[in-house]
Amino acid sequence: MVGPEFVLWLVLPFILRAHPGADARFRFASYIDHHMVLQKKPAGAVIWGYGISGATVTVTLCRHQETIMKKVTTVKTYSNSWMVILDPMKAGGPYEVMAEQTFGGRNLTLKVRDVLFGDVWLCSGQSNMQMTVSQIFNATSELSNTAAYQSVRILSVSLVQAEQELEDLAEVDLRWSKPTSENLGHGNFEYMSAMCWLFGRYLYDTLRYPIGLISSSWGGTPIEAWSSRRSLKACGVPKQGFILSDFTAGPSGHSVLWNAMIHPLCNMTLKGVIWYQGESNVNFNRDLYNCTFPALIEDWRQTFHYGSHGQTERLFPFGFVQLSSVLSSVASDDGFPQIRWHQTADFGYVPNLRMPNTFMAVAMDLCDTASPFGSIHPRDKQTVAYRLHLGARAVAYGEKLTFQGPLPEKIKLSAVKGLLNITYSQQIQLQRQDDKIFEISCCEDHQCKWLPAPMNTVSTQTLALSVSSCRGTPVALRYAWTTWPCEYKQCPLYHPSSALPAPPFIAFITNQMQANHKVAQ
Ligand SMILES: *[C@@H]1O[C@H](CO)[C@@H](O)[C@H](O)[C@H]1NC(C)=O
Ligand SMILES: *[C@@H]1O[C@H](CO)[C@@H](O)[C@H](O)[C@H]1NC(C)=O
Ligand SMILES: *[C@@H]1O[C@H](CO)[C@@H](O)[C@H](O)[C@H]1NC(C)=O
Ligand SMILES: *[C@@H]1O[C@H](CO)[C@@H](O)[C@H](O)[C@H]1NC(C)=O
Ligand SMILES: *[C@@H]1O[C@H](CO)[C@@H](O)[C@H](O)[C@H]1NC(C)=O
Repeated sequence: MVGPEFVLWLVLPFILRAHPGADARFRFASYIDHHMVLQKKPAGAVIWGYGISGATVTVTLCRHQETIMKKVTTVKTYSNSWMVILDPMKAGGPYEVMAEQTFGGRNLTLKVRDVLFGDVWLCSGQSNMQMTVSQIFNATSELSNTAAYQSVRILSVSLVQAEQELEDLAEVDLRWSKPTSENLGHGNFEYMSAMCWLFGRYLYDTLRYPIGLISSSWGGTPIEAWSSRRSLKACGVPKQGFILSDFTAGPSGHSVLWNAMIHPLCNMTLKGVIWYQGESNVNFNRDLYNCTFPALIEDWRQTFHYGSHGQTERLFPFGFVQLSSVLSSVASDDGFPQIRWHQTADFGYVPNLRMPNTFMAVAMDLCDTASPFGSIHPRDKQTVAYRLHLGARAVAYGEKLTFQGPLPEKIKLSAVKGLLNITYSQQIQLQRQDDKIFEISCCEDHQCKWLPAPMNTVSTQTLALSVSSCRGTPVALRYAWTTWPCEYKQCPLYHPSSALPAPPFIAFITNQMQANHKVAQ
């Protein structure tokens, strides 16, 4: 546990920095650096920094000594900061960005080299986002597989918390770099995020232009730490008390990581965000997660949109991983199914009305009993990153492809007695027969209980379940509603060609029922 003195020591210098006049040194923001990726067109990339109040700053973009554009601005009085927005640039590089400050006849020049234009993705969350490439399956070959990806650039933000929103990052663990085996596998849960790296690498395989990846994540942290005070208030999150959770090891104070690790990035132009978090909320404000998560997405979108003067899209794409599984000593109902559901704002799929322009990777079938980092940290990050990048290609890049597994479209009691028929939105492939993974809520004499509904017959797009064990009325149906629904890649239902698993769901049954699931395309 980190003591309060330590926190103060971490936080104080950076609160000072935000004060007027505290830092008049002419410099770029901490993350404007050599080897960086700036967001390409149609957005304009934001370049900003600090200087002497009232000075003129000229930002020049050059390629091979040739000036491509010049932007002039003035250092603001109160904050000592300056900012310019570059004209939209097509993907490519390398370029040089120069900034010159003129004040009282004295000029100072800063320069960053090897700057590329491409798509910039921010990756955040807890330990499953923090895990490095050296911790995943096939680590050795993954670490040595960087030569072809020199246009994928990485940055890793240091672990810092703060009581106030900071304007610039206090520190970075890894400055913008080309990928190497050293900086992709620096240590356990340090840098660089394997999930972030693999996501970017898969995107690069398709897009073939530069990708910038910023990892800003901290293990064992609840969503409250990553949320602004505004969004916590909007969800009525109670004032902080003592946290009793099995999966909280990092800072849990309201907004402390939002303040120090996310807000400082909000002036940057981004393409989108990916997120892998939720384990620390299975026992902590669990039933607020269907509010706190959509609210976080909305709040980050607003802040980044305004922070970049409209350059980052107002509804930028936001992708996330639905929780995987954990071998738990606790009873089967330990909050995982609920958090998985709440991650979709209780729709079961994304995008949906409350979570527009989002995409999700289902991971409940990627369990890892033998993970040396505990079963809560599955080592197959390749498959989950691959699934997530399919969502990005569909939602963020508009490709027509299957990016989520089959969802029930209709759930109806069959004319054949004792059968319940489910019609899926897509073709289904039966990977394994399972007589327990579907359950019906069976009500008799005002008492309802969950009973297994064994699979009966499966055809291309429909599935019949046997519900004859229910002597009363089946009122609801759920699928994969346990912490550990199946062994590795052995859940019962997948989409045949994409191999994407059918997501977990819970739905009411009425006799002519249209499940409240419609596939979002
Ligand atoms: C300083 O910069 C200004 C504007 O770019 C330029 O006109 C001037 O010649 C420069 N002065 C020196 C001493 O380099
Ligand atoms: C969130 O889930 C809880 C528990 O299921 C429910 O009571 C609540 O109405 C839901 N809230 C929202 C905003 O969907
Ligand atoms: C960054 O964005 C924030 C929020 O909109 C704004 O207050 C701040 O002035 C911006 N920073 C710069 C350097 O413009
Ligand atoms: C690890 O490498 C083997 C051999 O190339 C491959 O079959 C397997 O799918 C890889 N595992 C993961 C998780 O990517
Ligand atoms: C339900 O499924 C069974 C078995 O596949 C089939 O015989 C029956 O016609 C189906 N009923 C409806 C209403 O679709």
